[in-house]
Amino acid sequence: MILDLDTGIDDAMAIAYAVGAPDVDLIGIISSYGNVVVEQAGYNSLQILELLGATDVPVFLGEPHSSTTEHFDVMAISQQIHGKNGIGEVSLPAPTRQLETQSGVDFLIDAVHQYGADLTLVPTGPLTNLAAALQKAPDIATTIGNVTLMGGALTVPGNVSHFAEANINQDAEAANAVFTSAMPLTMVGLDVTLRTLLTTKETGQWRDLKTTAGEKFADIVDYYIDAYKVTSPHLHGCALHDPLAVGVALYPSFVTTFDLDMFVQASGEDYGRTIGDPARLNEPTTDKVAINVDTERYLKTFMDYLTTLFKA
Ligand code: BDR
Ligand code: CA
Repeated sequence: MILDLDTGIDDAMAIAYAVGAPDVDLIGIISSYGNVVVEQAGYNSLQILELLGATDVPVFLGEPHSSTTEHFDVMAISQQIHGKNGIGEVSLPAPTRQLETQSGVDFLIDAVHQYGADLTLVPTGPLTNLAAALQKAPDIATTIGNVTLMGGALTVPGNVSHFAEANINQDAEAANAVFTSAMPLTMVGLDVTLRTLLTTKETGQWRDLKTTAGEKFADIVDYYIDAYKVTSPHLHGCALHDPLAVGVALYPSFVTTFDLDMFVQASGEDYGRTIGDPARLNEPTTDKVAINVDTERYLKTFMDYLTTLFKA
């Protein structure tokens, strides 16, 4: 598995889920801009891996901004939800390792060429890195095992506009290139991620472990829970967006999916909308959209894996 993250708080939980899950060979993390700038995302990933004792996972820098801009500024709402440093203003020791020198895009292409169908990519940020890899090496569309991404919304409104979810909205052009490619894709969007919530009851259990990892993760995620109380008071918890994508990549039966050949609207007032292509409703497709989730079964693995990891 490779993760491609804009390491904010739920991305950090996605790292913990992947590190804590049995039988996963996490071969690398690619950084993306999004919740923070790309350098900060890489730095956060190194810090989180170190906190979890997973210092054998290399971290690569991805693209610094969308495919259609020359610059990236973090949105105020991202800072409100994830903190200015992306990990809830919690301070962690400086990492003892460096980022890799190879670019994240080249690492991804090499990994697909090496592992082929055995490789699963889980992007939980903008799809800029994946689109860049696809442009440079179009063959990866049919050789990669699977892409299970956190992003998009089909049956519910978006979270940055009526239509757009944040990750897709950062680079709808890149997302459209990915969605309309021949890649086997599973979209884990707001349709399901808003049904998997965490509260201070669970973070309290981590805190009670009295380990550094348990206490730091509880501090980080409590910041996210507090932000949700302001931005989404109707939810009564914080959404486990990114770790759910890792869960679905490992255990597809956590969700019910719907086969739909999708594209992403890249202009107009519905910029960033993920929607079915009406001209292709009767064509075969490699796209699947998660539309329901077995919350209980997923949450059980989430708490089992993270608690066991934080105890170590
Ligand atoms: C997604 O946007 C980011 O802020 C989160 O980390 C998650 O990947 C939710 O819309
Ligand atoms: Ca993310």
